[in-house]
Amino acid sequence: MEAVQIVLRQGADLDGFRAAVRRLIAGAVSPQDVVWSGGETLFATAPPDAGPPVALPRAVADLIEHVICHRDPDRYAYLYALIWRVLHGERALLDVQSDRVVHRLEMLRKAVRRDLHKMHAFLRFRRLDDAGGERFVAWFEPDHYIVEATAGFFVDRFRGLAWSILTPVGSLHWDRERLIVGPPGKRSDVPDSDGFEAGWTQYYESTFNPARVNPALMRKEMPVRYWRNLPEAKSIARLIQTAPERVEAMIRQEAAMTIKRNPDKAVAAMADQNPRNLGELNRIIAASEPLVPGATRAVLGEGPIGAAVAFVGEQPGDQEDLEGRPFVGPAGLLLNGALAEAGIDRGSVYVTNAVKHFKFEQRGKRRMHQSPTAGEVKHYRWWLMKELEFVRPGLVVALGATAALALTGKVVTIRRNRGEAEFDGFPGYITVHPSYLLRLPDEETKRDAYAAFLRDLKRIAVLADHKKRCGERS
Ligand code: URA
Repeated sequence: MEAVQIVLRQGADLDGFRAAVRRLIAGAVSPQDVVWSGGETLFATAPPDAGPPVALPRAVADLIEHVICHRDPDRYAYLYALIWRVLHGERALLDVQSDRVVHRLEMLRKAVRRDLHKMHAFLRFRRLDDAGGERFVAWFEPDHYIVEATAGFFVDRFRGLAWSILTPVGSLHWDRERLIVGPPGKRSDVPDSDGFEAGWTQYYESTFNPARVNPALMRKEMPVRYWRNLPEAKSIARLIQTAPERVEAMIRQEAAMTIKRNPDKAVAAMADQNPRNLGELNRIIAASEPLVPGATRAVLGEGPIGAAVAFVGEQPGDQEDLEGRPFVGPAGLLLNGALAEAGIDRGSVYVTNAVKHFKFEQRGKRRMHQSPTAGEVKHYRWWLMKELEFVRPGLVVALGATAALALTGKVVTIRRNRGEAEFDGFPGYITVHPSYLLRLPDEETKRDAYAAFLRDLKRIAVLADHKKRCGERS
């Protein structure tokens, strides 16, 4: 039999394909006798004398509607092969995921769905005031022929506005009543920005959660090639860069609320125990239960009594919990390196934490650090102040906001309070936590923040009369 040529119009020619399938099935033309060409001409040559309707399972009809939008020139041949087999006894063929044709079609469907999702999510209208009045215009570059398939979505959402969506493969125009499908558009027909922009940016910034920053995932979810069209994309770099600061602000806010809610019960209970020296205090702390169950042990402070400087961190991390010593994990390594660079011998200073137990969330095999609440910080505060009373350091350094909260009893911002301070009669100093430096997303910011931390440490060394008491290298 001579091959039957079917020429469909460019794009997703659903009507042309349906008509062709009716005629082919009516003529009992098997898939190997059909040559399909689509995506090359703007005009359909679908036969007008199509055969009777073909009844297909709903799942197959759904699949066709998606796959037809794919750019793959073989999509029609694959679809017709599927239809042929479904109509010749394999009604449940779509359930056979291992079948080569089904597998290929499912891959095409997935790609089209992803493209639809991206267009729904990343298309941005710009306002255009022309002779016809107010109109909204958007430019988008889809991977597949999905423009018509998205029409319902945009008409539903923006029914009350007059808008046009321009793409390199076709356009949609809605005048509040009628939808017109038109030829391809040009990017230059869409203004680069408008008064709407600030609104989008503000919305995006308000929904951006700095505690969940994952630049790799963001790029996957919002691929960089869409950023050009997204006003809010301009904020992304800045938002990522300031994320650690904003997380700190969120923690402070949470802390302030907890302080309001929690009456001070813990302090009274601890004061009753009345330890007379650091050894007694440490025995009490070591025997205590963690406020939040899970920690292996209480991690006690370490260093000489009468140390020139006492560094106070937040709480032990995973490694500190396992080893039972403060600042021995990644933050500890950074701290050690910075101390050495500032000429401070770690062995000569006292190092401890505001909270003595590691608090974490188990995720698979990993124990993910969780910040202590203000209530928890407050619970441990009496111990910390007693510890400092026994250690009698020349200067107390708060590393980060949690330590500053513990030492001052107040919510303080690092940015505003960084530098010299006073903690219940101890000369003090507030600086960032080493983990903050580890979390910074890019090298340049990290370098600057580390340099500032180093300046703080050098100042601390001077303040604590470092030459005499910390064994500074000259
Ligand atoms: N972070 C802290 O605050 N303390 C430690 O001991 C380790 C990490």
